[in-house]
Amino acid sequence: MKISVIGMGYVGLSNAVLLSQKHTVICHDNNPKKLDLINKKISPIKDSLIQSYLKKKSLKLSISIDINEQTTKSDFIIISTPTNYDPKQDSFDTSSIDEILKKLNQLKTNASIILKSTLPIGYTTSVNKKYKKLKIYFSPEFLREGNALYDNLYPSRIIIGNKDNYSQRFVSLLKKASLKKDVQIFMMSSCEAESVKLFSNSYLAMRVAYFNELDSFAVSNKMNTKDLIDGVCSDSRIGKGYNNPSFGFGGYCLPKDTLQLSSSFADIPNAIVKSLNKSNQLRKKYIVQDILKFRVKYIGIYLLAMKKDSDNFRESSIIDIIKLLKKNGKVIYIHEPLLGIQKSIFGCTVVNDFDSFVSKTNLIITNRPSKELNKVQNRVYTRDIYGEN
Ligand SMILES: NC(=O)c1ccc[n+]([C@@H]2O[C@H](COP(=O)([O-])OP(=O)(O)OC[C@H]3O[C@@H](n4cnc5c(N)ncnc54)[C@H](O)[C@@H]3O)[C@@H](O)[C@H]2O)c1
Repeated sequence: MKISVIGMGYVGLSNAVLLSQKHTVICHDNNPKKLDLINKKISPIKDSLIQSYLKKKSLKLSISIDINEQTTKSDFIIISTPTNYDPKQDSFDTSSIDEILKKLNQLKTNASIILKSTLPIGYTTSVNKKYKKLKIYFSPEFLREGNALYDNLYPSRIIIGNKDNYSQRFVSLLKKASLKKDVQIFMMSSCEAESVKLFSNSYLAMRVAYFNELDSFAVSNKMNTKDLIDGVCSDSRIGKGYNNPSFGFGGYCLPKDTLQLSSSFADIPNAIVKSLNKSNQLRKKYIVQDILKFRVKYIGIYLLAMKKDSDNFRESSIIDIIKLLKKNGKVIYIHEPLLGIQKSIFGCTVVNDFDSFVSKTNLIITNRPSKELNKVQNRVYTRDIYGEN
């Protein structure tokens, strides 16, 4: 089969690599540097399995910056471009997908177009109405950054928002490419599939927010957070995992997806979903108040990324914490090797020499500590309890 994938980020590249083991895949992106790297078998994102597949497997991958005749002749066209939340519209900005669909409609194609980007509920229905000659489907993506290919090789589930033969073909394509036996497949309406994605991420955000509020409670009452969480999570209905306190949920997806779901509720009565963002903002303020108790002037920020081994710091909760600490007159130094030779960010000096970073600061703040901090442990502030993401 011939497949085009548009948008070579975490979602697009992992799907492209996955499917190119058996099928011919053309990778599209409007960033030529990314395509160039892929062409040289270098992963533009940090994902050891993607890197290893690019180098070691014989993949049928090619690149193209233009959406052209080759794209339209594909059996499937997967779109995985960004859908950032736009506060003015109180909805995702779907313009990258709108433009691609407009172009595909002009070029005419019989391909099944699979939207993998996370969408506002109702989007797929509306574009199918607008472009009557296109076959447009939504299939939510559930991967974790850093484990993107792994999560597609061993998918938690495969979902598509339709029940016709083309959607059947697409889910069997994903299933055959996976290494997991008995992958669960769910076929439902596109609005339901769009809702599953938003409710899944909002649940994850809610769980993070819940254990963060538990931690704020424990700290305020001088209780041991670990004892509380261990006690609570031993109930199998609650379960262990995804319960490690943090400075707040962040990353590319959870903040924007909870806002989108809240917006989708519109007039439907709800309290939990609309409170998630508020809980997260309160948590950051609480963390700042807790840090201010140390009464130190020079504060080090150890890593901007949300998680260990992450290659980006999109919507990282520590960014808001930096801004609030600065408002309180603190002098901030940032240690983040991802910044390379960049000298400053958010109006703070970047110090990537670890020893000099330590010598300039009285207190080091980190969402997720690493071994490097062991020797200055008595100066480290974190709410990480379990040493995991
Ligand atoms: N990152 C995740 O963990 C994750 C998980 C599930 C779903 N999603 C969703 O998938 C979508 C993509 O996320 P991502 O993390 O892969 O994004 P990303 O930012 O890593 O990648 C998007 C890619 O699209 C390219 N691009 C942007 N506009 C384009 C255009 N008009 N034409 C061609 N290429 C274009 C960018 O250059 C970039 O390479 C989003 O809707 C996101 O919410 C992300």
